[in-house]
Amino acid sequence: MMIESKHVHGLDHNIGTLPELQGLRPAAIIFLGPPGAGKGTQAQQVAKEHSLPHISTGDVFRTHVSNKTALGLKASEAMSRGMLVADDLVCNMVAEYIQSLDHVGCMVLDGFPRSVAQAEWLDRFLRTRTSGMNDLPHSAPIAVQINVERDQLLRRLSGRRSCSSCGRIYNLHFQPTRNDGICDYDGAKLQMRPDDAENVVRERLTVHEKNTFPLTEYYRRKGQLREIDGNDAVEKVRAAITRVTRMLTI
Ligand code: AP5
Repeated sequence: MMIESKHVHGLDHNIGTLPELQGLRPAAIIFLGPPGAGKGTQAQQVAKEHSLPHISTGDVFRTHVSNKTALGLKASEAMSRGMLVADDLVCNMVAEYIQSLDHVGCMVLDGFPRSVAQAEWLDRFLRTRTSGMNDLPHSAPIAVQINVERDQLLRRLSGRRSCSSCGRIYNLHFQPTRNDGICDYDGAKLQMRPDDAENVVRERLTVHEKNTFPLTEYYRRKGQLREIDGNDAVEKVRAAITRVTRMLTI
């Protein structure tokens, strides 16, 4: 089963056929997709390539959990069960992060929004943030949805390891490090996420399937959704994303 997509496997929907993308200055590039789709992998690259701020709500929550902050304590129960953290906690955290940025242009959002309520909040927040900035006409966000088959997701999540220091993402099956268990970049130890345990992964996939359709439709209706076939190798998926981003002014 292809998670999320109602369309034909192998096709990058809407890419290259929509002239309205050309020159658009999005306020954000949002990565949508099921757990293990490659949102983090691709978002890190897009942010680096274009020197954009990147927020992964999952990463920020994991930092709060490991630092045992008040927010981490509130989020950890939902996260360990594979459920979503409450919208108000997520939105407040994102607001705090965005307000802390010097940068007022495009940013990369990874794992946020995840519900229509969060998407509506984001639209309001971005409008308020850029109102009165006539010289910076950044428009609504673009959502890039990465669609991947369920079997492939399970394999990716069971093999995922990330650097305990810099957060770089690897995979035992698909993107191994040069030396076992050690980050290629800074030599720190790799770790496995507790929510990548098989029973939690199944719950995360179920939660995702329930929430995703309304969110996808929210962006599709407004012409802000671009779908990518994420089953291919990392570089091929990146190339498909580049076909979207190169049309934008970011
Ligand atoms: P979060 O951290 O966002 O987890 P997720 O959405 O489940 O997504 P993942 O990080 O598991 O996968 P990914 O798509 O980023 O894939 P990756 O690039 O790592 O959220 C965790 C939890 O926090 C949630 O369950 C929730 O509780 C809470 N939360 C976060 N945001 C929230 C929100 N907005 N609202 C409410 N709650 C929220 O890749 C996976 C693996 O596959 C890696 O090993 C990678 O190397 C490999 N890989 C990637 N691409 C490819 C490829 N093309 N081919 C082969 N392997 C690949």
